[in-house]
Amino acid sequence: VDLHLDRLPPVRPGANLADALRAAFRDGRLAAESSLPSTRALAADLGLARGTVTAAYGQLAAEGYLVVRQGASTRVAVITRTQLAAPGPVARPAGPHPRWPVRWSLMPGQPDVSAFPRDVWLPAVRRVLARVPSADLGYPEPMGHPVLRRALAGYLGRTRGVVTTPGQVVVGSGFTALLGLWCGALHHRGITSVAFEDPSLPHLRSTAVSAGLAVVGVPVDDDGARVDLINAPAVVLTPAHQYPLGVTLSPARRAELSRQAVAGDVAVLEDDYDGEFRFDRAAVGAVQALAPGQVGYAGTASKVLAPGLRLAWLALPERQVGPLRDRMLATGASAPPVLDQLALADLLESGAYDRQVRRARARYRARRDAVLDAVAPYSDLVVPGGIAAGLHMHLRVVSSSTEAAIAAAARRHGLGIDLLGRHRLLESDDPETRPPGLLVGYAAPPDHAFAPALAALIRVLNDLRCPR
Ligand SMILES: Cc1ncc(COP(=O)(O)O)c(C=O)c1O
Repeated sequence: VDLHLDRLPPVRPGANLADALRAAFRDGRLAAESSLPSTRALAADLGLARGTVTAAYGQLAAEGYLVVRQGASTRVAVITRTQLAAPGPVARPAGPHPRWPVRWSLMPGQPDVSAFPRDVWLPAVRRVLARVPSADLGYPEPMGHPVLRRALAGYLGRTRGVVTTPGQVVVGSGFTALLGLWCGALHHRGITSVAFEDPSLPHLRSTAVSAGLAVVGVPVDDDGARVDLINAPAVVLTPAHQYPLGVTLSPARRAELSRQAVAGDVAVLEDDYDGEFRFDRAAVGAVQALAPGQVGYAGTASKVLAPGLRLAWLALPERQVGPLRDRMLATGASAPPVLDQLALADLLESGAYDRQVRRARARYRARRDAVLDAVAPYSDLVVPGGIAAGLHMHLRVVSSSTEAAIAAAARRHGLGIDLLGRHRLLESDDPETRPPGLLVGYAAPPDHAFAPALAALIRVLNDLRCPR
C-alpha cells in the first residue's frame, strides 16, 4: 500500500502518524475496506519504531477508522458521514454535561449528597482526633494509612469476596486519579494500549490517553462486555453493573475473562463503582476473586458516602503494587487527607458504613421502583434496562426520537439527565445497531426534589411523544 505519507518529524510521531492516516481516510486516499500494511512493514517504511505504528493503529481502531482482526490484515472501516464530518479522537476531553441550566437533576453517577451521614461522620472524626498519634500527622505513606488499608481489606473480602491483603490495598483521591496511576504504571512497563467497554465513561478513557495509552473498545451486549473481543494487553471493565448500560457480566463471561486474563497475561481493572447497590438478586461477587494475580479491583466511597470526600481504593495484584507506588512517587500523588482516611476506617470497623449501605440501598431501591412505575406507560418510547442494581438506569429509546430531540426537551424542562451517545467510542448514525438512550440517575436529588425531577422526566417523554 502506498500511503503518500511524509516522513514524520521526531516529536510525538505516534500522534502525527494517526493524523496523517486520518487525513488519508477523509480525503479518500485510503478507501473503506482497503488493507493497511502490517505494523512491521509500515514502521520499516517510515523509519519508526514498530510500537509507534501499533499505538497509532490502536488509536484509530478505537476511533472506529480501522478494523483490527487477529490473523487478518488491518482494514479501513466503513465510516459513516457523521464520523467524517466530526472525527476527533476518542479521548476528546469530556466537557461538562448536561450543557443546559438544570432545575431538577436526574444525573447518573451521583448519590443523594443531602443524605451524607453527618451524624455518623462527626463523632468518627472526633474519635479519630482523640486517638491519632501525632506521628501520623507527618508526611504520609502515599499508598494510604495502614489502618484504613487493613479495614478495607477486611471489608472488601467480607462484602465483595475480594481476595487481598492490606499491603495490596491502595487508597487514592477518587477512582479517576487511581486509574490514571494504574494506566501510568502500565505505560511505564511498555504497554501501549488499554481496552474500555464501548460504551463507557469518556473522562475515564481520557485519563488513560493522558497516561500515554491508546484506547480500544470492547463491545457490550446483554451479557456484559464481549470479553472474547478484548484486543489489548490491559482492560478496564465494570462487570457488576456495566456503566452506563447497567447489564451484568454473565457467569460464563466472568469465567472466560479470568481464563483469558491468566492465559494472555492481560491486566484487568474491575471498576466496582456501585457494587454495594444490588436490588433484585444476591450480590455478584468481584471477578477479582477468580484471578487475583491478574485482576485489580477498584471501589469508591463516592456512592455510599459522597463524591466530595474523594476516597477510593484499589486492591491490586501483588506484582502491581510496587510499580503503582513508584508512579505515585514520580507524579507527587498521595493518599487523601489522613483524618478522612481514619474516619472512613472508623466507619468500616464500627459497622456504620454497612448500616449506611443498607439505608441507602433501601431508599434507592424505592426510587428505582418509582421511576419504573412512572415510565411504564411510555413503553412505546423507552425500555428500561440495567435496573437490577446501582444508582441509575438506562432507558433505551425505541421510538424515532434522537438524542438531540431528547436534549432539547430536557433543556426546555430544566432537567439534568445524561445521554448514551457521548459514552460511545464512535459516533454512530445507525439507530438500528446503536439506539439512542437516556441515563437516569435516580439517586441524585434530595428527597424533596425527587418527585418534581421525576415529573420533569415525564414531561420530557410527553414532548417526545408529541414533538413540538
Ligand atoms: C463507571 C464509574 N467508575 C468509577 C466511578 C467513581 O469515581 P470516583 O471515585 O472518582 O468518584 C464512577 C462515578 O461516577 C463511575 O460512574
